[in-house]
Amino acid sequence: MKAIIFGGAGFIGVNFAKRILEEGGEVIVADDLSRVGSRMNLKWLRDKGNVRFIQVDIRHASQVKEIIHVHRDADAVFHFAAQVAVTLSIQNPRKDFEVNALGTLNILEAIREEKINPALIYSSTNKVYGGMEKLKVVEEEKRYVLPDYPQGISEDFPLDFHSPYGCSKGCADQYVRDYARIYGLNTVVLRQSCIYGPRQFGIEDQGWVAHFLICGLMKKPITIYGTGKQVRDLLYIDDLIDLGLKCVENIEKVKGEIFNVGGGEENTLSLLELLDIMEEKGIKPEVKFSQARPGDQKVFIADIGKAKKLLDWKPKISVRVGVEKLLEWLRDNLAEIEFTFSEK
Ligand SMILES: NC(=O)c1ccc[n+]([C@@H]2O[C@H](COP(=O)([O-])OP(=O)(O)OC[C@H]3O[C@@H](n4cnc5c(N)ncnc54)[C@H](O)[C@@H]3O)[C@@H](O)[C@H]2O)c1
Repeated sequence: MKAIIFGGAGFIGVNFAKRILEEGGEVIVADDLSRVGSRMNLKWLRDKGNVRFIQVDIRHASQVKEIIHVHRDADAVFHFAAQVAVTLSIQNPRKDFEVNALGTLNILEAIREEKINPALIYSSTNKVYGGMEKLKVVEEEKRYVLPDYPQGISEDFPLDFHSPYGCSKGCADQYVRDYARIYGLNTVVLRQSCIYGPRQFGIEDQGWVAHFLICGLMKKPITIYGTGKQVRDLLYIDDLIDLGLKCVENIEKVKGEIFNVGGGEENTLSLLELLDIMEEKGIKPEVKFSQARPGDQKVFIADIGKAKKLLDWKPKISVRVGVEKLLEWLRDNLAEIEFTFSEK
């Protein structure tokens, strides 16, 4: 497979790139290297094989067009490039819109105008469902529960874009889906829950599992916004890659589809429960509590039934095993990670 990966130096992108290279494929990494850790990820990837890197800002249509034109024989385009933090989107909604909404339109238009039809896999988010404030929530000792949604939230749940990030990602999500309907492009939208794993430079604004573990290992305090009982379903990166590649292989079947993608009901964790796992492993950071963030869902668990049914996919790596693997990577690379964070 020949793949163009926008955001290919980020956490998700670099892991996809590595897998495609391992399987004998060809990878073009397109990224502006704005994310902390992206340079370190790119250097690591380059040691794995023949990677072509193009520095690009997806806000600029001409730069995107050039890449798509030169690599018009690509079988797949993975679009992971984004402004990824809700907090930063509130501080700078224009930039957030330009990267997430306009940047995505630039990719869609470049493909349409080039008159090619690769599989286009887009990383959307569960944030398109908003804060889900009207749902009944039960508060237990360490977690919130949604009693009316034991299987999680399906793709049919009403959209409710909340926060500029929710709006820009949701806008892109709808454009990607609609380009399949209106122009016949081979697009798939993956509405992702929390994805975690090695090469994730988690910060307070995004990537909470890695952020908690990094703080714990670096002996830095953690601030929890809200009670810490918020629950998410977690999906280990390797399982997401399996799904993304299955989408490409089965593009005729799944073009135009939207999938909720996460660890599902079997792989959930609250913030307090992650702290408990960390404590079992001898990691006990100082924890402060602050006000809940706007639009922060009390519980989000993806109903992954559609992906299971259409693609015969399910997560293989449990939360316990996945957290172990991430911790192992962080421990092995702590000095370099500390250096990377100190540079920003
Ligand atoms: N990680 C998660 O848990 C999660 C959950 C839901 C959705 N997502 C989505 O998945 C995608 C990838 O997330 P990630 O965790 O790998 O984030 P990441 O920040 O590690 O990767 C994003 C990459 O995009 C690049 N980038 C940012 N702005 C750019 C621009 N203007 N032009 C070109 N490149 C640019 C960054 O340098 C970075 O390498 C994003 O679209 C994100 O919204 C992630």
